[in-house]
Amino acid sequence: MADNETDIEGQPRIAPDAGAADDARPWGEQTRVVGNRRPRVDAWERVSGAAVFPSDLVLPGMLHAAVLGSPHANARVTAIDTSRAERMPGVYAVISRNTPEANPDWDYFSAHSGKLFYDHCRFEGDAVAAVAAQSPYQAHDALRAIQVEYEILPFVSDELEALKPGAPEVHSGGNRAGTQTYARGNIEQGFSEADLVLEQRYRTASEMHTPLEPHGCVARWDGDSLTVWESTQGVYAVQSKIADVLKLPLSRVRVIGHYVGGAFGSKLRTDKYAIIAALLARRVNRPVKLFMTREQTLLTQGNRPPATMTVKAGVKKDGTLTAIQFSGIGASGAYKAGGTSLLDWLAKDLYRCANVSTELTDVYINAQPARPFRAPGYVQCSWAMEQMMDALADGLGMDPVELRLRNIPAGTQARDDKPYTTDGLRLCIEQGARAFGWQEARAAAAQHSKGHLQRGVGMAAANWYAGDGGPPSTVIVRLYADGTANLNMGASDIGTGTKTVMAMVVAEEFGVDPDAVQIEHADTGTTQYATPSGGSKTVPTEAPAVRRACLAVKSQLLDMAAQQLGRPREEIVFDGDHLRTTDGLESLAIRELDRLRKQKVVVGVGQRQSNPQGVSITPFAAQFCEVEVNTLTGEVRLLRMLGSNESGRVINRLTWDGQLIGGITMGVGYATTERRVLDGPTGKLCNKNWHDYKLPTTLDVPAEVISEPIMLTDEQANIVGAKGLGEPVTIPTAGAIANAVAHALGMRLYDTPINPVTLIERVAAREA
Ligand code: MOS
Repeated sequence: MADNETDIEGQPRIAPDAGAADDARPWGEQTRVVGNRRPRVDAWERVSGAAVFPSDLVLPGMLHAAVLGSPHANARVTAIDTSRAERMPGVYAVISRNTPEANPDWDYFSAHSGKLFYDHCRFEGDAVAAVAAQSPYQAHDALRAIQVEYEILPFVSDELEALKPGAPEVHSGGNRAGTQTYARGNIEQGFSEADLVLEQRYRTASEMHTPLEPHGCVARWDGDSLTVWESTQGVYAVQSKIADVLKLPLSRVRVIGHYVGGAFGSKLRTDKYAIIAALLARRVNRPVKLFMTREQTLLTQGNRPPATMTVKAGVKKDGTLTAIQFSGIGASGAYKAGGTSLLDWLAKDLYRCANVSTELTDVYINAQPARPFRAPGYVQCSWAMEQMMDALADGLGMDPVELRLRNIPAGTQARDDKPYTTDGLRLCIEQGARAFGWQEARAAAAQHSKGHLQRGVGMAAANWYAGDGGPPSTVIVRLYADGTANLNMGASDIGTGTKTVMAMVVAEEFGVDPDAVQIEHADTGTTQYATPSGGSKTVPTEAPAVRRACLAVKSQLLDMAAQQLGRPREEIVFDGDHLRTTDGLESLAIRELDRLRKQKVVVGVGQRQSNPQGVSITPFAAQFCEVEVNTLTGEVRLLRMLGSNESGRVINRLTWDGQLIGGITMGVGYATTERRVLDGPTGKLCNKNWHDYKLPTTLDVPAEVISEPIMLTDEQANIVGAKGLGEPVTIPTAGAIANAVAHALGMRLYDTPINPVTLIERVAAREA
């Protein structure tokens, strides 16, 4: 299956199940709780420090583990001696490739199989050995006493160098990890119809995963059953990977999620550390805690792959796009890991264009494998495509907003003409531009510029392919006799506010306060099956299942009320937390149902039904940005930004706005500060800490971020009318900033990040 057809979790997209499309009716426009601003149901736990994250967990008798990683970009492990480490104080166990029962088969991503402790470490940080000791300090000390002999091999750490003849081969057979092409229409004819053709190369640096809570877990055996507390986006995904590698029945592996301190795609997959922790715990017969250090997180826990993209585009004088040719090179790293996943989708799909051709080349380099990262591929492509759109607008003397509006794929999706269930791109751009004061700000930029302080205004638009959600998901809701409820759902709240949104769905149905809803932590031992939280699909996947579980409860309550009142069921309706007769003469609170008082609890099961076929359920976005560029220091000050999103129904306006602010913050880092730096002579990672890897701080994000939701309840999509939001909010940010900087400077920067050094170099070159 081609990368593009797989889910971003690397699994096939789930086929429609046998269930019919949803038969429950969507909510109307009038909702009581849904659509409001609700603080997090777990806000107190989170801000007070009471929330127990997996990295906080302490179990009786627990030992601490640490992993020794190869210090080289590419090396063969020729000998390992762990004897000195084993004799050190506090050390209980050391495992390496010399420990036969602790070296199971492992493959990073199917293409290349090997053992957990590879003999050939193709990237810096790949695991060589691991220690369990009384304290974390003793474990890390013991790592230094492990003697490893390496045969250091030539390496390649740049994807363009890797494609040159004679480059060191990461795997024998060449450095191409995969190629993909796509075409529609006739590209040459498209260019011949154009009045203006532009071609440009763009490069985006690798952005590294570094969530606040590092990656790791605690593992404990009870006889032949394993329990793992892991900081993960999906407990069931971790369960199946561990069971697979350790050859255990699924029923003997329990994975508990608790809270997650950030993930962004890096905790979709199960890493070696989970296996290592389980193996050490079994060896010492004690619980073992293994969390990556910050350095190891940056070295081994994934990245948004770097990309080199060439875009050639043709446009007529009236603004009609006639041809888009996109070629992209991305780097999976040392193993095949989706280095070009989804890289060309915006080129194929954001604007209507009859003639499109794309070509993608995924490349091996000696660096850690890439991982999904908040809107994989789309963020890179947006940087290139949205700058190209602005350059075309400049060339035509047309307003960039106007050029985009002339190429909106109204009603149907550009690549296959499937009708959109809701179609908010035009509204995002038009309403966003109006709310931002686009025309005024654009026109006033020159007059606000003085000497070395140049003002600029830019924008970018986006869509996202995976905000539809879908089966499978099962949810159980229990309603108690006092009208409060328990929600049993296996999906992780990765920090986005999933639990609060689900509590609001339950509250809407039962007329209770969201705080009256108890929500279970994701746990394969106790909660229902859920796919990992990712792809902006958690709300559209889980919320309909939650609502169906509530409807199943309500159906039983209607029976109870009908019996108690001696009325036919058809004459009873729900009204908030009451059931009343349609003639308005009688009414019962949920708490007043006799049978509920005897039975104590009503259980409802909800399953996510299939999506409607033959339509496209797509979220849309546009962002607008005003900057001030200092041409003496190279600094870019972000004065204000506005994000306009159409993701169906807004369920919680507070978490909606929180997603937008977070997405923009991440995009600010992508555009202006973040890049992986691999050392030329050694291939080693130079910036493996938060001092040298520059994340944006509060001083770097604009003080003014306005959220302008476009609420089109998507009644076809699912019974809550919501689509995904978490990725669309970050896709257009970097492109919008680049376009604003170009507007300020009258000159474009094509590579990320636009930091003071790169900007001042270009300004100096222009002046010279
Ligand atoms: Mo995401 S990159 O699906 O967490």
